[in-house]
This record gives sequence, structure tokens and C-alpha cells, in this order.
Amino acid sequence: MHQIIWKEEFLTGVEEIDRQHQEFVKLINRLNIIQGYGDKGNYALRLMDEVGKYAEYHFASEENIMYLTEHPHLDDQQKMHKALILKYRQWTESYKNHKAEIEDIIRFLEGWFTEHTINQDKKIGVFVKKK
Ligand SMILES: [Fe+2]
Repeated sequence: MHQIIWKEEFLTGVEEIDRQHQEFVKLINRLNIIQGYGDKGNYALRLMDEVGKYAEYHFASEENIMYLTEHPHLDDQQKMHKALILKYRQWTESYKNHKAEIEDIIRFLEGWFTEHTINQDKKIGVFVKKK
């Protein structure tokens, strides 16, 4: 088990987005914690559902910030968000069908968080600051 440690470099400079990213990391870390236990029962699935719902809420917030600031890449970002949610659903389905482990889901979420946040969301921060 390893935890994602929050780093300064994750900050986008937009307070609302940063607060939600920190919460998202907490949820991924919760999955990391239960991974170490033998019988995860339905809790793992419930937690995965919580992560998915939180991600959808977070994406809606981000898109609304982009809308309000007339960000030119809102459409692209929306497409990327939809693709991530779809991919996540596929992973959780695989987990339900015993074709994936919690570890796979965590690896996907971590990649999503670090790549999407550092590459995409930071650009939102730069744009919002200019406005
Ligand atoms: Fe984000």
C-alpha cells in the first residue's frame, strides 16, 4: 500500500479546484488503505462509486469555472472528462466481474489525477489568473 502524498506542484491556483483535488486524493488514498484488508466486501464497490460520483461533481465544477471565464478549451476539456468517466466505469465493471483488482483501479486513478491535473487543470489556473 502506498499513499499519494499531496505536493505543491498539484496546485492549480484556483482555490475551488485545489480543494476538490485534495478531497479526490483523500478518496483514492482510502481505496489504497482498504486494499490491504482481506475481506473488502461491498465496501470497495461503494467506495469506487463514491470516487466516481465525486469525479463527476468535480468535473462539473471545473467546466463551470471554464464557462464563466470563457475558457476557449471548454469543449475539449468536456470531452476529456467524459472519456475519463467512461474509462473509470469500465474499470469498475471489470472489478465487479473479477477481471480487475483494486490495485488496477488505483493505478488508473493515480495516473488520471497526476496527468490530468498537472497537464490540463494547471492550464485552467493560468488562464483564470489572467482574467
Ligand atoms: Fe481536476
